[in-house]
Amino acid sequence: MIDSDAKVTFECYRHFKPMLREGELYVKSILIPENNWSLCCFLINKSLTEAPTVAPHKLYLCSLMSINRMFRQYVAQTSDAPVGLHITAAEGNYLYDAEGKKYLDLIGGISVCNIGHRHPKVVEAIKQQADEYLHVMVYGELIQSPQVQYAELLTKHLPTELDCVYFTNSGAEAVEGAIKLAKRVTGKTNIIACNNSYHGSTTGALSLIGDEYWRNAFRPLMPGVHHYDYNSETLIAAIDEHTACVVIETIQAEAGIIAPNKAWLQKLRDTCTNRGALLIFDEIQCGFGRTGKLWGFEHYDVTPDVLLLGKALGGGMPLGAFISDHKNMWTLTNNPVLGHITTFGGHPVCCAAGKAGFEALLEEQMIKEVADKEALFLSLLQHEKIKAVRSTGLLMAIELESAEAVLTSIKKCIEKGLFSDWFLFAPHCIRIAPPLTITHEEIRTACRIIIESLQ
Ligand SMILES: Cc1ncc(COP(=O)(O)O)c(C=O)c1O
Repeated sequence: MIDSDAKVTFECYRHFKPMLREGELYVKSILIPENNWSLCCFLINKSLTEAPTVAPHKLYLCSLMSINRMFRQYVAQTSDAPVGLHITAAEGNYLYDAEGKKYLDLIGGISVCNIGHRHPKVVEAIKQQADEYLHVMVYGELIQSPQVQYAELLTKHLPTELDCVYFTNSGAEAVEGAIKLAKRVTGKTNIIACNNSYHGSTTGALSLIGDEYWRNAFRPLMPGVHHYDYNSETLIAAIDEHTACVVIETIQAEAGIIAPNKAWLQKLRDTCTNRGALLIFDEIQCGFGRTGKLWGFEHYDVTPDVLLLGKALGGGMPLGAFISDHKNMWTLTNNPVLGHITTFGGHPVCCAAGKAGFEALLEEQMIKEVADKEALFLSLLQHEKIKAVRSTGLLMAIELESAEAVLTSIKKCIEKGLFSDWFLFAPHCIRIAPPLTITHEEIRTACRIIIESLQ
């Protein structure tokens, strides 16, 4: 249908012409025997009486148009303005789009790719596990060594109280599991969470979200959840004999990077202990070295009763976990038995990938340089339009005067090959959460582009 000069035959053009709209590129994948397959494309002008000639190099562009349209049509959308880059490769600190344009990744898949994209040890572990077995049975019944080994490795790097791991599919499911666990362990029902906190999009986790705009449309939500300001005495004062747990992000991420006051966190710990409530730290975004220590709570000398992990836990594969002590976890085994069950949670390929990623993080000492890199960012991010930069390690928010200013800056950054984003509850802030492997030179490049984007 397309000859070697990529001239679309008239029959083909005529066939598709009724489906076309004026002024649009139309793309259809068709079989070309010599090439196996290729694309047939039309530069649409409905008044044409014969098929247009399409230069071969345009075929590539046309394939982009096609996938964009299919993305909008067949993949459920979460916003009317997705970034919509067609990513065809990712490696180390970079993303590559279908035109071969390279983007320095300043957000690491929203704190997933702490060790960079496609770390070779992770890819190797995935291949090896895929050669052995994929899913075999729902969670908890069969011994699957990737789960066992990863759980053991994690607990070796956690305080002794956190010695038992329940693997889930996602961060939100880890939150759900932890809520259930707290109810079982304490026999109480009330939950305290923070304003401007984010814990996931499933109904239980959504009930914990601390922003009315994001949760209101989905009422009725889970009852018994009360919200207070992070770092506030009112939150601590609200913990009473009905409180099953207090769930907080160790560092509030979507609020635009808000760190806890150390004395407040320690008082919160003591109050939970005294009133018999579990203290649950959500480190789904701030764990795995992102803050400059392996776990965010290490900065504050406070250990939670339950730790929530996700994102970087899987080394780029979907995996979440809630971690507590054995005694607590045992409550999920009886009355009812199977107190939390999941078909795919702790998938062997995800656990193998996560374990390899965690080993790489530790062996390659990626956390060691986080504080220096943070300092370099802070020294370079100086501009009259920057109102503030808040950071804990390589988890940073650049505050501008408005959400519009942020969107304009992000757009310009993307044009210049720097991929960034904003925050759910702080749309006036630019997100910085790159792979921890970002180099000093890359940090300089990133900051130069950000400053230029503010002009
Ligand atoms: C702090 C925090 N908790 C929980 C979640 C939910 O994780 P997931 O999207 O894997 O369900 C997220 C996701 O962004 C998060 O940032």
